Amino acid sequence: MTATFSSIQSHVFTPVCTACHSGGAAPQGLRLDAANSFTMLVGVSSAEVSALKRVAPGDADNSYLVHKLEGHQSVGARMPFGGPYLDAGTINLIRQWINNGALK
Ligand code: HEC
Repeated sequence: MTATFSSIQSHVFTPVCTACHSGGAAPQGLRLDAANSFTMLVGVSSAEVSALKRVAPGDADNSYLVHKLEGHQSVGARMPFGGPYLDAGTINLIRQWINNGALK
């Protein structure tokens, strides 16, 4: 896995997250399938904490996606809901992608 959107999609979002985050009933309206994830994450306000973007380009510390993956979110549960959680190396690659500008 590398710190690129396509790698994160194929190693994390598609195999781990779309079990719940897809289709019309996706939690908080967040679809993480390959066709929707980028436009639903980058620069979009969180439904749970509207003051934060799900992904704030260049600012992983203030991206709600990262809060949910690391387990220090202020609303709801750590993701993936119920675990097993992502390992630190995987989360760091997602942080790096965001800090590099969250490019597609
Ligand atoms: C077993 C079902 C399930 C899985 C798998 C899952 N989620 Fe979730 N997710 C939820 C539910 C339910 C909520 C809303 C309740 C909560 O936040 O605890 C949620 C909420 C979220 C939110 C908050 C959205 C917002 O706009 O505030 C984010 C971000 C998120 N999930 C990301 C992920 C990511 C990334 C993965 C994969 C690594 C993932 N989830 C896997 C069920 C799941």
